[in-house]
Amino acid sequence: MKPATGSVAGSGRLAGRLIGVGVTGSIAAYKAADLVRRLADEGADVVVLMTPSATRFVGELTFAALSRHPVETDVGGLLPDRRIGHIVVADSVDAIVVAPATAHWLASMATGLAGDAVTAACLATRAPVIVAPAMDGEMYAHPATRANVARIRDAFGYRIVEPESGPLASGQSGQGRLADTSAIVDAVVAAISGTAVREPDEAARPPLVAGDRDADLDGRHVVISAGGTAEPIDPVRFIGNRSTGKMGVALVEAAVARGARVTLLAGHVSVALPTDPAIRTVIAETTADMNRAVRAAIVDADVLIMAAAVADFRPRETAASKIGRDGGLTLDLEPTEDILAGVAAAVPPIGDPARPVLVGFAAETGSLDRAADKLHRKGVDFLVANDVAEEGSGFGTDTNHVWILSVDGEPVDLPLRSKRDVADEILDRVAAALDARDGAAQTGTVTQESRA
Ligand code: CTP
Repeated sequence: MKPATGSVAGSGRLAGRLIGVGVTGSIAAYKAADLVRRLADEGADVVVLMTPSATRFVGELTFAALSRHPVETDVGGLLPDRRIGHIVVADSVDAIVVAPATAHWLASMATGLAGDAVTAACLATRAPVIVAPAMDGEMYAHPATRANVARIRDAFGYRIVEPESGPLASGQSGQGRLADTSAIVDAVVAAISGTAVREPDEAARPPLVAGDRDADLDGRHVVISAGGTAEPIDPVRFIGNRSTGKMGVALVEAAVARGARVTLLAGHVSVALPTDPAIRTVIAETTADMNRAVRAAIVDADVLIMAAAVADFRPRETAASKIGRDGGLTLDLEPTEDILAGVAAAVPPIGDPARPVLVGFAAETGSLDRAADKLHRKGVDFLVANDVAEEGSGFGTDTNHVWILSVDGEPVDLPLRSKRDVADEILDRVAAALDARDGAAQTGTVTQESRA
């Protein structure tokens, strides 16, 4: 699937994978931050393990922020639920990549001395291990290092991404510079290509750390429509669509977790609706009901997210009693009102601090070319587009591959991920837009006061 415009943010060669990055105490440890980012750009969930000496070069907070997982720095480290951190990593990763790997770490690994979290996880895992050494040229050439590298390669089956030759931190020149990040990412991709995702169950993976998302919608009123509308033909039949409501429900749960008060406008859904004191649910099965419910809820809303699949046509007449099968049936359909476009036209224009943030969805098949046009036609701040014909994306699936288009930025490609993760990505942008809106409002106030 191609975006309508803009650049590709990630090709997703590691979509759905969990990759462990082991960082050891080399001056090149800072380059591991870029590696974590690049693996994430490829769609991977990344968890970082560090040796104690690595933490002297880069703080574990940096890696926790980049990976959104707790960083394993200690073989005795326990997760909040009392599971042993490095064992959870070992059991759930698709691969571990140790970059940079020091001479000391290579020696520990070659002899199975599991005194640090990186070595311990490598010993405990059945996943492939990729090792990218980095050190002084003489150290790398030493027979001890050569023997350790040969042992982990030949006896353990680890893949070595050879260091490059060139100027080193010591000021000398030699083979010892950490390989280029792209070469390390390619080695990870090659090591696991053709294998199934090892542990798709998020509960079995390391937990996420609490991040800035936790309360960033505190006090906001978010209106979310979910499911498909159902347009009655007679008392027993309706025109519907294949929307199940999963994406809308994921958005509701994510918004509540981030502190929002949510109005859930539920169309025809086939998933359980969440209950929480922060959620007010309104059942709105027809487009006309949904329109009324949206208009009522938008009055004090900060955000409207139209995840519902709304019918474009409805029967002009609804029969009062069941239509018999004799004589066939021809339906006379009329277009429905465009709820989202109607709201967009009724609220203050984009840029006005009083305007709610509007998010539309676009389920397309085959191409996203129409999405950019739809963003402007609907007058929304963000449009989330996906190809429902693509495997793992669309109706009824637990995952989604979407593009997020915005009025003031390039489209962003989010490789296949859980609907909950997609929901959080959308809400990241919504929260940022709300903060920008509030910032603009304050600036406006200051300007008026200073004029007075
Ligand atoms: N939408 C709406 N009211 C409608 C139809 C759609 O509010 N009558 C909303 C949907 O909830 C979604 C967005 O508009 O957030 C885009 O829906 P989509 O069906 O893709 O757009 P349409 O306007 O129906 O365009 P087309 O049928 O040409 O693809």
